[in-house]
Amino acid sequence: MRAMQIPSDHPLLLRIVDDLAERGWSQQNIFLPLGLTRELAAECRKRAAEGELAPAAVGRGPTSEVREGIRGDHIQWIEPGQALACDSYLVLMDSLREAMNRGLYLGLEDFESHFALYPPGAFYLKHLDRFRDDDRRMVSAVVYLNDDWLPEHGGQLRMYLDEGVEYDVVPVGGCLVVFLSGEVPHEVLPAMRERLSLTGWFRRRGNEPF
Ligand code: OGA
Ligand code: MN
Repeated sequence: MRAMQIPSDHPLLLRIVDDLAERGWSQQNIFLPLGLTRELAAECRKRAAEGELAPAAVGRGPTSEVREGIRGDHIQWIEPGQALACDSYLVLMDSLREAMNRGLYLGLEDFESHFALYPPGAFYLKHLDRFRDDDRRMVSAVVYLNDDWLPEHGGQLRMYLDEGVEYDVVPVGGCLVVFLSGEVPHEVLPAMRERLSLTGWFRRRGNEPF
């Protein structure tokens, strides 16, 4: 699979940057090319079948624990060099990182991401993506990998915006949602079907002394 290099001044990326600056979130229904979406979905299913996805924990460090009453997804962190499709995704997200650094001066230094599989009925209760003891996560980015997803399948990402407005995203394959990690509370509603995604966070440098 070819590397999906796009310039950081691509109109799609500039639109995302503008949305973030104006309102703190962006939804792009046509972001991942269909072929790449399918390859990433196949990679996620393959990893799940091989037992590589594990129940996601809540929190970070020694106090993190699996709590299915809070989140029921199974995840695996991705690393460069494991699969061409994942590398293409990482290259794309790096273009987005550059675009955000140019347009928003966020000083984003790295990107961490994982596959997520929500079995039917699984959900993730309302939360913020920033840890109490670690504020390096600045921008959250979710891409969906599901074929033929309909609103009646559930599994919406529900964002809690300003002034009590709730906004739901249907997790249709190829769609990207980006939002400020510390500012947009959100949840994942239970789905009737298995729900696949890649979720990631753009991070700035931490203040740790090491
Ligand atoms: C998360 C999350 C949203 C989604 O993993 O922190 O909120 O739509 N995911 O999958
Ligand atoms: Mn989240």
